[in-house]
Amino acid sequence: MAIPPLMLKIAATFLFLFQTVFSALDFIDQEQSMSDGATLVSKEQSFELGFFSPGNSKNRYVGIWYKNIPVQTVVWVANRCSPINDSSGLLTINSTGNLVLLYQKKSVVWSTSSSKQAKKPIVQLLDSGNLVLRDQEDGNSETYLWQSFDYPSDTMMPGMKLGWDLRTGLKRRVSAWRSWDDPCNGDFTAGVEFDPVHHTFPDVYIRKGTSKFLRTGPWNGLHFSGIPEQKPNPLYRYDFVYNDDEVYYTYNLKNKSVITILVMNQTVSNRERLIWIEEERTWKIYGSSPKDICDRYGTCGANANCMINDNPICKCLRGFKPKSQEQWSSMDWSEGCVRNDPLNCSEKHRDGFIKFSGLKLPDTIRSWVNKSMNLKECRAKCLSDCSCTAYTNSDIRGKGSGCLIWYGDLMDLRQFPNGQQDLFIRMPHSELEKGKADKKMRALLLVAVVGVVSGMLYLGYFIRRRGSKDRNQALSQNGDKEEDMELPLFNLSSITAATENFSWQNKLGEGGFGPVYRGNLEDGREIAVKRLSISSGQGVKELKNEVKLIAKLQHRNLVKLLGCCIQEEDKLLVYEYMSNKSLDSFIFDQKQGKLLEWSKRFQIICGIARGLLYLHQDSRLRVIHRDLKASNVLLDHEMNPKISDFGLARTFCGDQTEEKTSRVIGTYGYMAPEYAFDGLFSIKSDVFSFGILVLETVSGKKNRGFHHDNHGFTLIGLAWKLHKEGSSFELLDKHLRESDHNREQVLRCIHIGLLCVQQSPVDRPDMSAVVVMLGSESELPQPKPPGYFMEMDSAKGDTSSSKPESSSTNDMSISLIEAR
Ligand SMILES: *[C@@H]1O[C@H](CO)[C@@H](O)[C@H](O)[C@H]1NC(C)=O
Ligand SMILES: *[C@@H]1O[C@H](CO)[C@@H](O)[C@H](O)[C@H]1NC(C)=O
Ligand SMILES: *[C@@H]1O[C@H](CO)[C@@H](O)[C@H](O)[C@H]1NC(C)=O
Ligand SMILES: *[C@@H]1O[C@H](CO)[C@@H](O)[C@H](O)[C@H]1NC(C)=O
Ligand SMILES: *[C@@H]1O[C@H](CO)[C@@H](O)[C@H](O)[C@H]1NC(C)=O
Ligand SMILES: *[C@@H]1O[C@H](CO)[C@@H](O)[C@H](O)[C@H]1NC(C)=O
Repeated sequence: MAIPPLMLKIAATFLFLFQTVFSALDFIDQEQSMSDGATLVSKEQSFELGFFSPGNSKNRYVGIWYKNIPVQTVVWVANRCSPINDSSGLLTINSTGNLVLLYQKKSVVWSTSSSKQAKKPIVQLLDSGNLVLRDQEDGNSETYLWQSFDYPSDTMMPGMKLGWDLRTGLKRRVSAWRSWDDPCNGDFTAGVEFDPVHHTFPDVYIRKGTSKFLRTGPWNGLHFSGIPEQKPNPLYRYDFVYNDDEVYYTYNLKNKSVITILVMNQTVSNRERLIWIEEERTWKIYGSSPKDICDRYGTCGANANCMINDNPICKCLRGFKPKSQEQWSSMDWSEGCVRNDPLNCSEKHRDGFIKFSGLKLPDTIRSWVNKSMNLKECRAKCLSDCSCTAYTNSDIRGKGSGCLIWYGDLMDLRQFPNGQQDLFIRMPHSELEKGKADKKMRALLLVAVVGVVSGMLYLGYFIRRRGSKDRNQALSQNGDKEEDMELPLFNLSSITAATENFSWQNKLGEGGFGPVYRGNLEDGREIAVKRLSISSGQGVKELKNEVKLIAKLQHRNLVKLLGCCIQEEDKLLVYEYMSNKSLDSFIFDQKQGKLLEWSKRFQIICGIARGLLYLHQDSRLRVIHRDLKASNVLLDHEMNPKISDFGLARTFCGDQTEEKTSRVIGTYGYMAPEYAFDGLFSIKSDVFSFGILVLETVSGKKNRGFHHDNHGFTLIGLAWKLHKEGSSFELLDKHLRESDHNREQVLRCIHIGLLCVQQSPVDRPDMSAVVVMLGSESELPQPKPPGYFMEMDSAKGDTSSSKPESSSTNDMSISLIEAR
């Protein structure tokens, strides 16, 4: 029985319609097309392909998004830069077997680019989120004529390859959306770059326009040399493949039920790893780069090392000096460093190398690699060529293998505290001689020190002998136990259980001294556990004593320390849990911000002021916070503010109250200029941070990363301008306009904020004056111009980027040594 072909076609069409109504298909073939409104859904319902309009735009795009999560997250867009302005779009396979997107049934807006023609082409949406074009006649269903994974948008999904296919010349790069409304390629892009002809070593660059913005550093067999925190983890496996056929980075999920992506974000100039948290129905940032200013490309210029915990952060490599001492001293590091003694090619065989450990490997743009040479051969090769400046193993696994060498200036270095890789940098004979002399000097000094120390030990022995009697008596009276009773000691197992082994689901955030986890104790109490990741240079006992002192600081506007668990490896502080998280999650969030009406904000400002006054003056210790910011102000169930992280700077950086420190602890955007630039801190640098906090709370805007939307003004700058114009009230968060508020109070807060951020510490009021000013209606003194520590100050030499600093620490304290 023959069925007429027309009938078949009608039947097929009917079937298609039938299916789109009741269960979506996962493919398009030549019989079918897809119009605006219909969608394809992958077999296991993971992904959906269809037409959508991003943000407030009315334009129509074809994209792929997660089917199984409620927040539409578009991971790929077909016609990124060629939107359709009505609903006439039609996705179909044309007669030569390419997928085409048609506008008003005729003009091609977008198409795939398969050079091979399939006999029976089919386009299918896979459960990986990959849209593939293949030939149904081809027995191998994994041979694709085209696939969306080869043309990524802003999102790198599990299974994608970021990099090159050397056989076909395909280069896969990701690029951010221009804006929330516009998926067209922004200028924030990432991809693998190298020169295969000259055997330069591949590196992953993130670019802003044409200029380099960040570099991951070359792959060293274990991780990218600039990302030592990249470690095997429970969520995904990662790998970098580098052979004659392909060079790419990829990652794959270990557990398919985890949803994680790597996204380029133009707005904040960040590449972020996001994880979907089903319980909270939201994406959380698991990691983001750049993580600090040392991650930014070439912060310190050539031949210099970036050390995030030092101040200033840039230092010339040994054997090098600033090219321009004047610029260097004014913290303009762009010119970098030059050799003390230049290399002389005709004396190259007298040169040698100095080993540097824990450096991020230099930019590989002028490099050369041979994966089969060993380190000795590598050294010989470098030495014989006087333009070669450094060498190392290209793979550090095992005993190390391969040879990677550099020519010319060494760019974009940074120091990691426990980096595993050595870099051997060429030095002229004269420099090596200096090193030897230094060594001799040090040996002599050591002998002298040993002499002195043994003398002291000898003396100490006598003193101890005399003291021990008295102490034994005292101990027997007081008992050791009572001392520990003051601060409950938790045991590690109970905290591990409470936080479900510090699982990332329980992670609340990352503070200046380490990550914070939420936990439930067996007795039902909710706690927040701070896992200190920074070393204090103190022993267990000293640290315990220090923590006891912190625990004695008790005030209704300070977060209460419940106890601790301090052993050799683990240093955990246990705090009361604050159900409403931190102030920043309210004031900087449009939705949450509306919940925080003016009277509440005013109470919060007053509470913070009282807490800080207590730390500065009323407590026994006189504590300078040094990292006061919105994310360090927690809110309890009644929205009472409580300052957290106090006392830690003192513990970790000494107990000076007014001192110069080489270790700046703090957060860009909140740091007083004298502290940021000169390391000078005092109660007045805290007052500065408080001023910023007040302006942020009033305006609902972050001081950091603010100026670009506002014609070059920082938040402080804008507040100052409006103050001078007599229109301060405009600073008020516009979400508060309608609700009732107290105009006088608002103006007073802004005025006090400006007094606190004055340039000179001497002019700033102390906290007792601030508390009085907040509580009275007396006339306030006129503020002098504010002190600026603008984001731009720290990112000189970068003219193209529109958001230099906000990208770097993303509100993380810069005291952080290791990111997640
Ligand atoms: C849509 O775009 C087409 C072609 O670009 C243009 O001719 C047409 O006027 C546009 N229609 C609307 C409603 O904007
Ligand atoms: C099908 O689309 C491809 C890609 O746009 C194009 O090169 C080819 O000419 C089209 N075929 C026909 C018959 O239009
Ligand atoms: C994968 O993750 C889910 C949810 O996190 C969990 O329930 C499941 O046990 C995990 N599966 C494996 C094999 O680890
Ligand atoms: C970029 O980051 C900002 C701030 O975190 C966020 O509001 C925005 O949604 C992000 N943009 C995209 C396209 O993900
Ligand atoms: C380099 O070394 C050679 C031989 O020792 C010497 O003659 C020459 O002056 C040196 N050149 C410079 C620029 O120092
Ligand atoms: C790499 O080194 C090996 C061993 O020294 C050598 O045989 C090979 O020719 C080198 N390859 C290149 C491209 O120089």
